[in-house]
Amino acid sequence: MKFEASMLRDGSKMKKRNQYLGLATLGLVLAITGCTKHEKPNFVYAPDMAYSPAIKAQEEGQRMPVKGTIPRGYIPYQYAGMDAISAGRENKNPLRRTESVMARGQLMYNTYCIVCHGPQGDGDGYIVPKYPRPPSLQTEKIRNYADGSIYHIVTMGQNVMPSYATQIAPADRWAITHYIRALQRAKNPTPADVKAAEQE
Ligand code: HEC
Repeated sequence: MKFEASMLRDGSKMKKRNQYLGLATLGLVLAITGCTKHEKPNFVYAPDMAYSPAIKAQEEGQRMPVKGTIPRGYIPYQYAGMDAISAGRENKNPLRRTESVMARGQLMYNTYCIVCHGPQGDGDGYIVPKYPRPPSLQTEKIRNYADGSIYHIVTMGQNVMPSYATQIAPADRWAITHYIRALQRAKNPTPADVKAAEQE
């Protein structure tokens, strides 16, 4: 076969036509699939793939514990909705004031409370005054508080004082209230306390 100029021309025409066709196809594809935002396509070619029925972990559909489920060994605090005074009336200190309870209370107080409330509960912990000075635990108000009211404040927190419910176990919170009583009586001994001390 002999090459001719006309064939060449035809060839380039064919090329042009193919180009047009290509562009048109591209345009059509773009129009169908859409150059829109990914979240909301106009047309979904394979919906089964786009919207997989598989459930992702941590997503809706995960099995949740039955309502009211609590961790093992955890006893929920029943007086959370009350004020400290009312809670104190209801919630009694279950611990007897033994030597080991007092020692535990002292250790816990010196670990968690002393930084703000000070060694005698005067509100002169070494974080003060960088941290707002807490009220004294030696006031008549706190001396007249039931143990359960102090327990309530440690459990729930009060204004700027945070809750210690996650750090201090319930029994340790009760031990702390016993120890605070000891601090209070050391500063304000009853006549019987004075007599006992004199006899010693
Ligand atoms: C980070 C500092 C901080 C720590 C730690 C802290 N407290 Fe307090 N506490 C405060 C402040 C501040 C207040 C006053 C809150 C307010 O404005 O009502 C307060 C208030 C109290 C009150 C009530 C006093 C009142 O007159 O109303 C009690 C009781 C108490 N704390 C006990 C404790 C015990 C027990 C601990 C240790 C388990 C403890 N606090 C740990 C800062 C602290």
